[in-house]
Amino acid sequence: MVNTGDTVPGRDRPRIDGHTLLAGVIGWPVAHSRSPLMHNWWLAQCGVNGAYVPLPVAPDQFDTAVRGLQAAGFRGVNVTIPHKESAYRIVDRLHRSAQRSGSVNTLVFSSDGRIEGYSTDGDGFVANVEAHGVAVKGGSALLLGAGGAARAIAASLLDRGVRVVVANRTRARADALAASLAGVEAIDWAQAGSALPGCTMLVNTTSIGMEGAAQVQFPFDLAQADPELVVCDIVYVPRQTALLKWAAANGLRTVDGLGMLIHQAGLGFEKWFGVAPGIGPDVEALLDADLHRPAAGGAG
Ligand code: ATR
Repeated sequence: MVNTGDTVPGRDRPRIDGHTLLAGVIGWPVAHSRSPLMHNWWLAQCGVNGAYVPLPVAPDQFDTAVRGLQAAGFRGVNVTIPHKESAYRIVDRLHRSAQRSGSVNTLVFSSDGRIEGYSTDGDGFVANVEAHGVAVKGGSALLLGAGGAARAIAASLLDRGVRVVVANRTRARADALAASLAGVEAIDWAQAGSALPGCTMLVNTTSIGMEGAAQVQFPFDLAQADPELVVCDIVYVPRQTALLKWAAANGLRTVDGLGMLIHQAGLGFEKWFGVAPGIGPDVEALLDADLHRPAAGGAG
């Protein structure tokens, strides 16, 4: 359903009226989130009468806020730190993506009064890689890191027949990920170098390379990598991380993290507003410019 809104004459803002479709992002804090910028831009681009707002909600108010937004007619919300566990708990229907990834980042308030929970991170990652012209089907991936993002990505890769090996600094977390997802193999961080040959994809899901984080040596040598290896990073500040620069310097194909942020958001947009947003250089440039504003930075 596309609900077309007018703009207020002389102003570049949509008119908010009784038909405006509402969504937002719940976090604490949430002021740094780029999601309102992205979704409101898409709403304007798609001609949808909608609005997407930041919703600062303290941890002990999460349930009250979600029930209130649902009662007020919101279509749904994104959920970010520190509410992801609460979001997993509050849903009436866990979509397979949420079950498999063990997390929820998107709530949809369905017309039958239920709260549906999705994780769009893994499918957003895959969609972004494919948008870079890389088919995600079969082969094997070495994932660095074993946090929430790693599990979501591992689940989506397994669904596409990709063999997944996870190396993490803290081995126990890699083991826990492997125990939660059949088909994942856990290895020691130091073994990453011996696991890399034969892999078609290398994915950094750790915080190594983030602006402000300590710079760490990876336990492998990209100069020895298979020339067909595709190197992906989910860090997007900076966009060209040290890992991606190293890969490019060795002639390897690279996929940066900004597109994953955009694609995972697009999947939520489609569920709430009934139309797939255009994902291309325009929205990427919009976000890129915002990330480079003075005092910008932080998560999506
Ligand atoms: P998320 O859930 O968003 O993925 P997270 O749970 O904080 O985030 O995970 C961050 C990942 O970065 C973890 O895998 C972490 O390794 P540990 O499990 O050993 O903590 C990894 N990480 C962070 N700093 C690292 C470093 N200096 N070297 C190697 N791995 C690092």
